[in-house]
Amino acid sequence: MVKAAVLGASGGIGQPLSLLLAISPLVDQLSLYDVVNTPGVGADLSHINSKATVTAYLPEDGKGLEKALTGCDIVVIPAGIPRKPGMTRDDLFKINAGIVRDLVTGVAKFCPKAFVLVISNPVNSTVPIAAEVLKSHNVFDATRLFGVTSLDVVRASTFVSEVVGGSPTDYKVPVVGGHSGETIVPLLSQITPSVEIPSDKLDALVNRIQFGGDEVVKAKDGTGSATLSMAYAGFKFAESLLRALGGETGIVEPTYVYLPGVKGGEEVQKAVGGLEFFAVPVELGPTGAVQATNPLPQANEYEQGLLEAAKKGLSVNIVKGVEFISKL
Ligand code: NAD
Ligand code: LMR
Repeated sequence: MVKAAVLGASGGIGQPLSLLLAISPLVDQLSLYDVVNTPGVGADLSHINSKATVTAYLPEDGKGLEKALTGCDIVVIPAGIPRKPGMTRDDLFKINAGIVRDLVTGVAKFCPKAFVLVISNPVNSTVPIAAEVLKSHNVFDATRLFGVTSLDVVRASTFVSEVVGGSPTDYKVPVVGGHSGETIVPLLSQITPSVEIPSDKLDALVNRIQFGGDEVVKAKDGTGSATLSMAYAGFKFAESLLRALGGETGIVEPTYVYLPGVKGGEEVQKAVGGLEFFAVPVELGPTGAVQATNPLPQANEYEQGLLEAAKKGLSVNIVKGVEFISKL
């Protein structure tokens, strides 16, 4: 029996993500939590003739989060405000840091063994916040905490195919680092199957992968950021994890993890100047993250330059997240 929870289930990401989880044969119980509108979203989804039973909670009597989380195996967190044009993801920290802190405190109390997938931005900082909260409750297990960076990978394969032809599903593009602007590092020299990116298109392609989120924010013109592509990408990650938990082997997904706590992570950490959090391809298994692989030694000179810029940004974002909890 697999019980999944979506925290922020009534939002732009939360609703389509909940739909995808509700119709997944890998989910038996789906628990929805938000500060608004969950009864309606829950009633709607509960009419779908899929395997999952759907329950919905509001904070109301102070027990909503407890009820939503108790018994959960996997918790996906897209709660928090999205960007408007002109904002960076870091501008969301002020509000979203506290939201993620409080929701992960609920995880620590009511389902401390659950796998936690953080979508709320700024991911570079909210995942360190989640780790610190779990540590402070003595329940932190790095193999169970994931920053969801799959949208960068989804975008990368789409944008690469637009440059070199073929179908987006043809290409696997390793995207490492973090999830904002220059901290997003596509390793285009390591695309499988190998493709040649014309040199006059390289900078623009890298820039588009790094700043793809801005395209959507601009197009939505003040009404939010990516929701549908994010729900798809978040679901794909959750589905990979659920398949791995079910015993399927060889499933690798790039994700932002606490390197010292994941096998193979120390090697990556050395390669990135000691950063504790970094997105790399991670093999998933029945206990969560079983092995981080280090694609960085193969990075070419151009990509090494991208990595240097990413490391600078990430170190600031990580410290900001850690200090938000440790200085309380
Ligand atoms: P949204 O405003 O449409 O939805 C957010 C939901 O969170 C709302 O329903 C809101 O009521 C709920 N919420 C707020 N505070 C809460 C709390 N304390 N507990 C439970 N729920 C709470 O926003 P969205 O477009 O769904 O985006 C959500 C977040 O995901 C944003 O921070 C956005 O930047 C981020 N995001 C991340 C990625 C990624 O790649 N990781 C991609 C897209 C968006
Ligand atoms: C994205 O990459 O689309 C998200 O992080 C949302 C945003 O703010 O761009």
